[in-house]
Amino acid sequence: MSIYLDNNATTPVHPRVAEVIERHLRGAGGNPSSDHPAGREAAAAVARARGQVAVLLGCDATEIVFTGSGSEGNNLALKGIAYAYRDRGRHLVISATEHPAVVAPARFLEREGWELTVVPVGPDGRVRPGDVARALRPDTVLVSIMHSNNETGVMNPVVPIAALCRERGVLFHTDGAQSAGKVPIHVRDDGIDLLTVAGHKMGAPKGVGALFVRGGVKLEPLIHGAGHEGGRRAGTENVPYVAGLGEAAALAREEGLAAFATRVRPLRDRLHGLLTAGIPDLELNGHPTDRLPNTLNVSVPGALGRELLAACPEVEASTGSACHEGEDSPSGVLVAMGLLPERALGALRLTLGLSTSECDVERAAAALLEAVDSRFAG
Ligand SMILES: Cc1ncc(COP(=O)(O)O)c(C=O)c1O
Repeated sequence: MSIYLDNNATTPVHPRVAEVIERHLRGAGGNPSSDHPAGREAAAAVARARGQVAVLLGCDATEIVFTGSGSEGNNLALKGIAYAYRDRGRHLVISATEHPAVVAPARFLEREGWELTVVPVGPDGRVRPGDVARALRPDTVLVSIMHSNNETGVMNPVVPIAALCRERGVLFHTDGAQSAGKVPIHVRDDGIDLLTVAGHKMGAPKGVGALFVRGGVKLEPLIHGAGHEGGRRAGTENVPYVAGLGEAAALAREEGLAAFATRVRPLRDRLHGLLTAGIPDLELNGHPTDRLPNTLNVSVPGALGRELLAACPEVEASTGSACHEGEDSPSGVLVAMGLLPERALGALRLTLGLSTSECDVERAAAALLEAVDSRFAG
């Protein structure tokens, strides 16, 4: 039996979410814009989900825009703000460890005439608010700094960054794809203007997400059409998946957030402890405590992460490298933190989920330790 430790790549759909989706797939299936019972039923499901996501994030339901993915949410935030505020200025700020779904739209905007500043991260993977403050200019319209990193789980100091942006009249977006559902977020208290959610990182299916857009913030849609989603994203809503995302948000609030803090974090730390006991020079990548409760990114000195995982196929996890045409290249995130390429290539990303058990952790540690032993014996 395989041990799934790749929950930052995607999570299994929660059974209660699957039930809700199935109910809607088998139901009347009306169009939420139609004014008859089937349509009104669909509209009510979308409204309910909007409220559930809003409660998870600490905002008003009108501030939630449903999207087709986390990537879409990030694209909508960056391009939507850049175009809506292009008369205010054409300068954007992102960090050196953003997901490609932020980097690529930022680079696209650069090609279209915007200027981009990429702020560095420290060796612990965190953006320093002082670096963001120094990057701001009178023509800066948007700062986008991820809430937490998908590879290391490192959580950025978004509250002071959001505060300094607000002081300077700059909008602040954060990619919350990895944080939503794992750690508490309150966009209003935290001073966030836009936040991205990806359904499949929190027990909903792939292909559904949400973007929080603070009331009063203008947004140019990516998809023009009828007035869906308050004119911010045209297209008839994917009612079953939207309802599923709402259910996932409700579940996160009812039990998920607490379970990550009290059950998953200790399991993650146990995995770290078991691995360190067997590999005394194992190195932790990222801040020791300001990390998502489910994420462990470690480097095994002298080993290649990819080879270690190949040696224990029962452990389904990720590495700190990408393989292109037979050549391993180290993860840009780890390199941005100042890791030497050898250490980055030895990285393993082990990400637990709500269904990870103690037995999974023990079996995974044993399999990984055996793979390391045979690597160095051979
Ligand atoms: C931090 C982060 N942002 C955005 C995304 C993109 O989300 P989606 O796969 O829903 O497009 C991911 C998914 O890997 C992610 O980890």
